[in-house]
Amino acid sequence: NKVTFDYSVAKKFVSDTEVKMIQACAETAKDQLVNKSGAGNDFLGWIDLPVEYDKEEFARIQKAAEKIQKDSEVLLVIGIGGSYLGARAAIEFLRHSFYNSVSKEIRKTPEIYFCGNNISSNYMNHLIEVIGDRDFSINIISKSGTTTEPAIAFRVFKKLLNEKYGRKEAAKRIYATTDKSRGALKNLANEEGYESFVVPDDVGGRYSVLTAVGLLPIAVSGADITKLMEGAASMRDYCLNQPYDKNDSLQYAAVRNILLRKGKGIEILVNYEPSLHYVSEWWKQLFGESEGKDQKGIYPASVDFTTDLHSMGQFIQDGQRTMFETVVTVEKSSTEIILEEEEVDLDGLNYLAGKSVDFVNKSAMKGTLLAHTDGNVPNLQVFIPEQNEFYLGQLFYFFEFACGVSGYMLGVNPFDQPGVESYKKNMFALLGKPGFEAQREELLKRLQ
Ligand code: PA5
Repeated sequence: NKVTFDYSVAKKFVSDTEVKMIQACAETAKDQLVNKSGAGNDFLGWIDLPVEYDKEEFARIQKAAEKIQKDSEVLLVIGIGGSYLGARAAIEFLRHSFYNSVSKEIRKTPEIYFCGNNISSNYMNHLIEVIGDRDFSINIISKSGTTTEPAIAFRVFKKLLNEKYGRKEAAKRIYATTDKSRGALKNLANEEGYESFVVPDDVGGRYSVLTAVGLLPIAVSGADITKLMEGAASMRDYCLNQPYDKNDSLQYAAVRNILLRKGKGIEILVNYEPSLHYVSEWWKQLFGESEGKDQKGIYPASVDFTTDLHSMGQFIQDGQRTMFETVVTVEKSSTEIILEEEEVDLDGLNYLAGKSVDFVNKSAMKGTLLAHTDGNVPNLQVFIPEQNEFYLGQLFYFFEFACGVSGYMLGVNPFDQPGVESYKKNMFALLGKPGFEAQREELLKRLQ
């Protein structure tokens, strides 16, 4: 059993011949990736990460997680973009649907809140209220160590921690995940003696979920990070060694590029499990930042079904025909509810008596798949056998590998993000940051 890709429902849009025709292009892109001969080749550390990670640091992550579990009721994870989405995706996928609100007896581990991923005073003030007078720790995550959003949140929550425990004790509750030697956060960590974890130089933010960036918060949540790595390692093996026609990740990259060339410029990642919501958010960042450049790329969007069938469903069925869907299905639900017969069938649901809720969910999925196909939306499928750490590790690696290949097929550097800088420059200028004086004048004039 493994995470698999299937385009059989989309054959009216993508034929086997076309998939064969694009094989050379996909394989060249794969070679560029694994031989490290393409653009951005200094950011390919993620390829071997599942088998070559720092075991000493891994053990330190597990120890730190145990300490946080013992001495904290709340963990704040401060980070943005690649320094936050992977951990959130994993925790929401692997742990309780109501992780923070369910009782401590069921959860067993600290509540985990993410911040520093926006610049909202309300969000931070409300979070301060949620923490109240409870014991808490902070995991500040920033590869560059200079990103504004997490830096601001860290200032606010570090002050809270210092006031509560005193600076020396507070420092023992701060865990910094950042560059091994550079940046403001690394300097601060050295200065204050925070326990530090490394974001390797050759792993970009959106490919960093299997480094300390993702692993520490995931471990604190009680999920098994060893199994996560094992899953990723097994998918790495498939991605690197399976031939094209059996290589799911390569086929996914190929098929989405065929669809793009046919005018399908939007890919919607679809799920039928609310716990996959943040996996979609992680996936959007991965593909959006990797491919959306040089006026190219597939726009990555996502919907949560069946919820969004009652909002976006109309557009997907019947609106502008520019999209395709990739439906992510968990094959075996981890829990089950069987619908019971009622004496008087007032709600008309007795025809479902004896059936499971997951059977209804899967029927909705299959029905929608066919309806959208009839509405001329190609439907690709990704199957996850079960909701656990091993398969999530596979899923992360499956998409990362496909993204690298797909970016090269598209002719872009999938490992940089020059476009992210534009808003930062304007924001710094408007905030009056030293060094941005000229831009400030110009922008203020434009805003008048
Ligand atoms: O994928 C990326 O590189 C970005 O999304 C970064 O993760 C994000 O901008 C946060 O950067 P940093 O970790 O340097 O604070």
